[in-house]
Amino acid sequence: MDPKNNLKRLISQMDDSYDGALITPGSNLYYLTGLNPKNVLERLFSVIVYPDKKPVLIIPKLYEDYIEQSSIDFENIYVWGDDQDPYKYLEKALKDLKGCNKNLLIEDSMSADVLMKIKDLLGKYSWSSLNSETSRFRKIKSKEEVRHMKKAAEIADHTFEALLEEQLIGKTEIELASHIDLLLKEFGASDTSFETMVASGPNSANPHHFPSKRRLKEKDIVIFDYGAKYKGYCSDISRTVAIKKAPEGSKKVYDIVKSALSKSKEIVKAGIEARHIDKQARDVIVDEGFGENFKHRVGHGIGLDAHEEPYLTGENREKIKKGMTFTIEPGIYLKGRYGIRIEDDIYTMEKEGKSLTKSDREFICL
Ligand code: CO
Repeated sequence: MDPKNNLKRLISQMDDSYDGALITPGSNLYYLTGLNPKNVLERLFSVIVYPDKKPVLIIPKLYEDYIEQSSIDFENIYVWGDDQDPYKYLEKALKDLKGCNKNLLIEDSMSADVLMKIKDLLGKYSWSSLNSETSRFRKIKSKEEVRHMKKAAEIADHTFEALLEEQLIGKTEIELASHIDLLLKEFGASDTSFETMVASGPNSANPHHFPSKRRLKEKDIVIFDYGAKYKGYCSDISRTVAIKKAPEGSKKVYDIVKSALSKSKEIVKAGIEARHIDKQARDVIVDEGFGENFKHRVGHGIGLDAHEEPYLTGENREKIKKGMTFTIEPGIYLKGRYGIRIEDDIYTMEKEGKSLTKSDREFICL
């Protein structure tokens, strides 16, 4: 990742439409400046980007050491202590905007708390989504970015392998989820890419179940859905297993999901529309009579964020390009009984999609 170059691209895109960009911590800040502060909470940490001069950084004194993480040449760096008001620096920085376009790019994840404090200062501008500009180039991953994503996927694969060695029966979903988080970090993740999901028995029929105190038992189906962060980049994998004995009919359902996954992977290549990848998986599931039980889009883009563009919905006509990375994750959810989902991370090459996650996709009975 080359923040200097990324920032240059954003600035060249701002030309006639925007007066500047107001960025707070998150994946855009990291992508554009290399700064990736954690737990900033209510303290103002911001970068103001101008089309015609170097950017300004406003940073809490507590985070002063982070400045060296950035290769960006700032016009001004305002370091503020807890007994100072950082908003006076922001006011000054905003006054330096030329203001001819009356339009500012605003970080999408900026907290409303910050936005409310500065809304009067921003009164003369309309606000546009920074994501909508950055995602145009963030979607296409460089070789280096793909290397990081591959590593994040490998960490997820190693974690699954290690998990299969464990005694799962009798453990609660919460215990297993924390164990997965620990394994991810032991294998090299800096963090998890989202909250780990372990859904057992009837809970697996809820696609976004939150781990509970339920203990795994014989004849349970269990979905594990988790991901690693490596150098800022995410992986996202789901695997479904049976405990000791598979419930009746579950092998058939598993094979349908597996076939939906492999059939939709087969058609991935540069130039294909996102919606066709969704349809390919959906057709397999609908033909088998489980259309109603596949409740979500087939996948989402992945990179610095666990969910980002492109979204693989039935409606999205966007053409998939070489270098795009996304998940394919068909599932069938049978309320009150069990659910099955298999998810891989895919990297688009000219003529095919390459799976970054490689864990076993056979129906494993533990
Ligand atoms: Co996913």
